[in-house]
Amino acid sequence: MEQHKMRIALLGMGTVGTGVVKLLREHYEIINMKTGLNVEVAKVLVRDASRSRPGLEDLPLTEEVNEILEDPSIQIVVELMGGIEPARSYMVAALRAGKTVVTANKDVVSEFGKDLYDAGDVGDAELYFEASVGGGIPVLRPLKESLSANKMQKVMGIVNGTTNYILTQMSQFGRPYEEALREAQALGYAEPDPTNDVQGFDAGRKLAILASIAFMSRVKPGMVYTEGITRITPRDIEYGKRFGWSVKLLAIGKEVDGQIEARVHPAFIASEHPLAAVAGSLNAIFAVGDPVGETMFYGRGAGAGPTASSVVGDLIAAALSKRTPGRRAGDACTCLFHKQVMDIGQVVSRYYLRLSCADQSGVLARIAEAFGAEDVSIANMVQGSGGPDREDTGEDAELVLVTHSVLEAKLQAVVRRLQSIPEVLAVENVIRVEA
Ligand code: NAP
Ligand code: HSE
Repeated sequence: MEQHKMRIALLGMGTVGTGVVKLLREHYEIINMKTGLNVEVAKVLVRDASRSRPGLEDLPLTEEVNEILEDPSIQIVVELMGGIEPARSYMVAALRAGKTVVTANKDVVSEFGKDLYDAGDVGDAELYFEASVGGGIPVLRPLKESLSANKMQKVMGIVNGTTNYILTQMSQFGRPYEEALREAQALGYAEPDPTNDVQGFDAGRKLAILASIAFMSRVKPGMVYTEGITRITPRDIEYGKRFGWSVKLLAIGKEVDGQIEARVHPAFIASEHPLAAVAGSLNAIFAVGDPVGETMFYGRGAGAGPTASSVVGDLIAAALSKRTPGRRAGDACTCLFHKQVMDIGQVVSRYYLRLSCADQSGVLARIAEAFGAEDVSIANMVQGSGGPDREDTGEDAELVLVTHSVLEAKLQAVVRRLQSIPEVLAVENVIRVEA
């Protein structure tokens, strides 16, 4: 096979950067045999080049980004620093200088994707970002390339490993939320400050990228309705099981009548749904298109090896694209429409409501009246008292109601009515049920 040398630079040498160097070294022959590429790491940008990096002593480290940006022999820049700045500025500068950029940075891609593509237009340079969603799972390029003939209708994913691990522990072993979170932190899944994961922000950024590609219209993180998992209790999970459901933090994108639904929140799904079987820290993206129908992409959403797999896959695609003169096929921007992102109130869903109420006659009738007044139909109801995490005092009762499909705005109106009924002591939880 014809041999091609490709000089690349890495920005950042942390978890993923180290994984990339290791993969390029350990699988050098596989990559070379398949592609004829001889990838040379020409420069690595770090904050402190004097710091000892066992096993990586021979890397050409620099603290000066211009040594990379101004070196015409470096054709591909791999950004693995994370955060917005200076990562965004460095990527823009590299693209404007005609260098292909490969990145795993969901923060920059979801918020500033257009800036990156515009810079690529200036420099006639490509942008690749497979690792920014789902770590090692190939999903963005399959959506852009293999499924490009489809009109995508839905993307629904478990795209945050930390929260999936926590919910799995709560579901399988009845662990309370705080205990499962502590375990996720001890295992290194959750950061010491887990806010981005447990409040759904990390998944929101990933959904913004997924939805932008699937529906060919720019969706930014601020347009995604986001709700975290902190209110889910073992009690809700137990009730869900009675109905044949599992709870997951879902990132849901749909196109409905030319508008986009983009939302991240915990939801019940049927236990037979393929996403229900995605346990622990694993990720999966379920995508539905016309004419392909249902597809699912599954794997490790984080970690040095899996993420490096996606980064190096992009690197190879980028290098092969560079090898073909005049070809700038790569990841051209496909946000060609300006579709409206729907307000959460316009979304149609089924809902699970768990109420604490006074155990008195007539209460049920008043509750039913609240639903009737908003024309919200009840599909199912269970009355409980006591239970695994709740003492049975005999003075109050617990009601779980499940609605038929209804506009979220109407459901919210029902909740306001319920909260005004004196015998309804608390609307303990409201969880969407994804069909
Ligand atoms: P990390 O371990 O924190 O490494 C970041 C590296 O970038 C460090 O080597 C750091 O230097 C360097 N760096 C940061 N700011 C810099 C600056 N201003 N100048 C020069 N170097 C700088 O991060 P990571 O986990 O590898 O993540 C990298 C990217 O991959 C992020 O965008 C992340 O969201 C994404 N990602 C990560 C995973 C994962 O499993 N870790 C999965 C998917 C995507 P120091 O060593 O001096 O701190
Ligand atoms: N914090 C993320 C997760 C991994 O828990 O899935 C990086 O995207």
